[in-house]
Amino acid sequence: MRYPEEVIEEVRMKNDIVDVVSGYVRMQKKGSSYFGLCPFHNEKSPSFSVTPSKQMYYCFGCGAGGNVFTFIMNYENYTFGEAIKMLADRVGVDLPEMEYSEEQKKAENKRSRMLEINKEAAKFFYYQLRSNQGDIGKKYLQKRELSEETIHKFGLGYAGKYNNGLTQYLKQKGYSQELIKEAGLANVDEKRGMYDKFFNRVIFPIQDINHRVIGFGGRVMGDGQPKYLNSPETMIFDKSRNLYGLNFARTARKNNIILCEGYMDVIAMHQAGFTQAVASLGTAFTSGQANLLRRYTEEVLLAYDSDGAGTNAALRAIGILKEAGLTGKVISLVPHKDPDEFIKKLGAEAFQERIDNAENSFFFEIRVLEKNYDLKDPESKTKFHREIAKKLCNFSEEVERENYIEAIADKYHIGFENLRKMVLSYASKTGLVKEAVRPKSGIQPSKNTPEEAAKKSQRVLLTWLTDEPQLYVKIKKYISPQDFTDKLYEKIATILFEQLEAGNMNPAGIISQFADEEEQREAASVFNTKLEELETKQEREKAFHDIILGVKRCSYEYYSAHLDADVNALTKVIEGKRALEELKNTYISLD
Ligand code: UTP
Ligand code: MN
Repeated sequence: MRYPEEVIEEVRMKNDIVDVVSGYVRMQKKGSSYFGLCPFHNEKSPSFSVTPSKQMYYCFGCGAGGNVFTFIMNYENYTFGEAIKMLADRVGVDLPEMEYSEEQKKAENKRSRMLEINKEAAKFFYYQLRSNQGDIGKKYLQKRELSEETIHKFGLGYAGKYNNGLTQYLKQKGYSQELIKEAGLANVDEKRGMYDKFFNRVIFPIQDINHRVIGFGGRVMGDGQPKYLNSPETMIFDKSRNLYGLNFARTARKNNIILCEGYMDVIAMHQAGFTQAVASLGTAFTSGQANLLRRYTEEVLLAYDSDGAGTNAALRAIGILKEAGLTGKVISLVPHKDPDEFIKKLGAEAFQERIDNAENSFFFEIRVLEKNYDLKDPESKTKFHREIAKKLCNFSEEVERENYIEAIADKYHIGFENLRKMVLSYASKTGLVKEAVRPKSGIQPSKNTPEEAAKKSQRVLLTWLTDEPQLYVKIKKYISPQDFTDKLYEKIATILFEQLEAGNMNPAGIISQFADEEEQREAASVFNTKLEELETKQEREKAFHDIILGVKRCSYEYYSAHLDADVNALTKVIEGKRALEELKNTYISLD
């Protein structure tokens, strides 16, 4: 789905981002930008900025960012098509009829047919629950103490016991057998032909963040197997990139998100007022889901079942959260099995207390580890302490590591100096920043990898160039888009350099060229990297020179390492070496 480039640009340029955002966020001018409280995460002091010269917004707290289209899409939960319609309306631009290529038309049609058929199926299940045949389902949900309001909010439904109701209904509505099957709503086999996938189950429609139904989970009535049956993945249902309940949780305005195991847990928690609860979709928690959560929160509380399986799942989730840069904590549900049961027995207030007392994920890991040792036996106890020391090595930042050594020494009555020595001796044996094995430990090395450092200097350069576009002519001799070793950055640099060459820089326009929301965010961050505040011109010139040199050196090292894999690498290496030599002796003025 794509309007012509000029139309997109016209709508964007006529909608000044400060005007538009001011309708949603109170902002104050500070320097060349406006600042306000971020509407995309919870905060007390403003880190959300809008920069008129770039026509972009960016939050230094949560990393949300983009142009005026991205803002409306995120704030209003709109698709790009909906956002451009609204903004065109706002400034009186007439949008042309859509231009589709044949292929786009097909894919887009397929997608919307898939969404349509899922919506239709959800409607069918919803009415089934309310029909006479729905009694079993209704009784079940009553037994689980769900209110009518909750059932409605989550659009719960019911799939009857014997018939092929859904398949028949969908066919009647004109959907092809093929689509019904591809949407995962029916199975086909030689003996029975086509028959409903879901029957004799209470149905949980699964929605994406924009409240569109993309799949279903169904809980069997009685003791049949499997207890929960889920839609297969389809072109609109990616289980590793969606979370149950996130369509509500994203606007819950709490300062954490609670991750639990099952659909019923999420629903029970929302009903009790914990509208920040989400769950994965019948599969283990993934890094794609962690990245999704990072858009909305910094802290994830795990409310997994209190049994062995739940504990193991929590340990794995902790590792994934750490890797995504999120803080993880663990909610204890003891003596109950899961959040649903806990809330039923002890109520919302008691659960809030458990939230307030959620355990630091490292302490949780150590406590689980402890169960493998007999602390009355000196040998076993020593082994336990060694394991702790090993794990402490994974904190690569010194202050953090020292703080943890202190806390753990205190908690487990180990001498602080002894534990510290043990940690240092492991650290020197193994090299301090050691890769942790994900399934076993949640502790991951910090983000100070060479790739991260390279990306950081590439971001700084791109931001600097958009702040002071006149510098482009001075660096183009040394830096080309291929020096941006991150693929997305290279793409951005290619477009930006073309614009700079033509003398009409337009970073907000670049953002519209990325279809994927995640890419738009990243692109926005690339143009909004915090630059060091330097006093003198001399300091600034040195910093700029260092950045150019840094980017070039990383590029040189990158291509040297990829001589085998990349046919252009040799040219880049030779060119890089020459440029580096020259740069070392060149003064670049910022005037
Ligand atoms: P549980 O078995 O703990 O389910 O599985 P639950 O939510 O407590 O079930 P109730 O309370 O008896 O209804 C937790 C989650 O794991 C997935 C489902 O998402 C479920 O909510 N699951 C479980 C499946 O996908 N398939 C299964 O067969 C079992
Ligand atoms: Mn349960």
